[in-house]
Amino acid sequence: MDKLVITGGSQLSGEVTVSGAKNAVVAIIPAALLVEGICRIENVPNIKDVTVIIDMLAQLGAKIHYINKNIIEIDCSKVTSYTAPYEMVKKMRASYYLLGALLGRFKKAEVAFPGGCDFGVRPIDQHIKGFEALGVAIEMEHGVINASAKQLTGSQVYMDVVSVGATINVMLAAVKAEGITIIENAAKEPHVVDVANFLNAMGANVKGAGTDVIKIKGVEKLSGGTYSVIPDQIEAGTFMIAAAATGGDVLVKNVIPKHLESITAKLIEMNVNVKEYDDAIRVSRMEKLVKANVKTLPYPGFPTDLQPPIVVLLSIAEGTSIVTEGVWDSRFQYVDELKRMGADIKVEGRIAVVEGVKKLSGSPVNATDLRAGAAMVIAGLVADGRTEVHHLKHIDRGYENFEEKLKILGANIKRVKDTDSD
Ligand code: EPU
Repeated sequence: MDKLVITGGSQLSGEVTVSGAKNAVVAIIPAALLVEGICRIENVPNIKDVTVIIDMLAQLGAKIHYINKNIIEIDCSKVTSYTAPYEMVKKMRASYYLLGALLGRFKKAEVAFPGGCDFGVRPIDQHIKGFEALGVAIEMEHGVINASAKQLTGSQVYMDVVSVGATINVMLAAVKAEGITIIENAAKEPHVVDVANFLNAMGANVKGAGTDVIKIKGVEKLSGGTYSVIPDQIEAGTFMIAAAATGGDVLVKNVIPKHLESITAKLIEMNVNVKEYDDAIRVSRMEKLVKANVKTLPYPGFPTDLQPPIVVLLSIAEGTSIVTEGVWDSRFQYVDELKRMGADIKVEGRIAVVEGVKKLSGSPVNATDLRAGAAMVIAGLVADGRTEVHHLKHIDRGYENFEEKLKILGANIKRVKDTDSD
């Protein structure tokens, strides 16, 4: 495995272009299973999670054609298998989208429980609840979910918790169901809207995505078409925070500023300059960073996936900040790594108390998960001296050309073979 070696102290400056949204595309690719015809998907990020999900579709019998590294054509017309064993799904949590997509396609699915980032219990009870409402019988045996229905019938589904995955999965199962499905207390994340837009572009009838009530009128057939994935809200936020942390001046291009409002608001509160353009955001900082309290929430709240990066920023801000994790049970595991770099943070359950310190100091650290990995890189960029970020497999899952993009902005960062790890 590789590691990143960073020498801190450079102020990031220049322009960076954000890639397509990981959490949209990992649902849009399985959604192609519902389509009879060729789906041309553009603005696909070239990341490991995409390779993994593409590989799963290919194993199910889909024909995949890469036009270039960011444009893929998928033809699922010859797929006959509805079985995704553990060996296939274990590399990626979002493989649960195969359940909804295969159910929508075959009214049957056999999908093993998936793997993915680990930050506490990751139940799928709301996915199951939604499928059952559509008439699906579910059995779980030997780590495999067996789902089947004589017919999928539209129904009313109330989500007990706001869940991105459950909202999208029920949407996938419902687009070709008989009648109307209404999802209440639906997730409103930009990627939920993007999946709905993709399905509609292929001929589905999904209304209300982006609000908490989504109405899906079943259609007989989805046909092929072309779709371009939205920019990645979390990658954009990561670069915004990196620019602020290093006291730099960066134009983050190919973004939807509306999706970034919660981040923009927090940065301004912390003394950072943020200027919005139509499809770009400029982040610069000359003043001292000051404390802010952050609570992560479902969209449009502050995203949990930017909680580790913002904690790095708060760790070098003047004053005491309180960060409350409102989505996941245990998403502060990376804090121990940050403390080794000199951060002063106390964690109690879902709350972290961050005392700003004058500086961080470079040290070897682990990327304990995807977003924690991005946070370690930002910490390395501001720290004194040399930081080594190990376990890059997490970062590679979700950020396209991360270190190249940072290098262009002036970061002193390089990827080297990690002889210390497997
Ligand atoms: N939950 C349940 N029951 C369910 C589903 C979820 O109780 O059936 C709970 C979870 O335990 C959690 C909360 O609901 O406390 C939210 O979970 P959600 O289902 O929204 O998460 P997810 O769909 O599994 C996606 C992203 C995550 C991101 C979360 C929250 C993808 C592939 N993953 O996960 O992204 O943290 O939404 O926004 O879309 C990442 O990109 O690094 C990442 C982890």
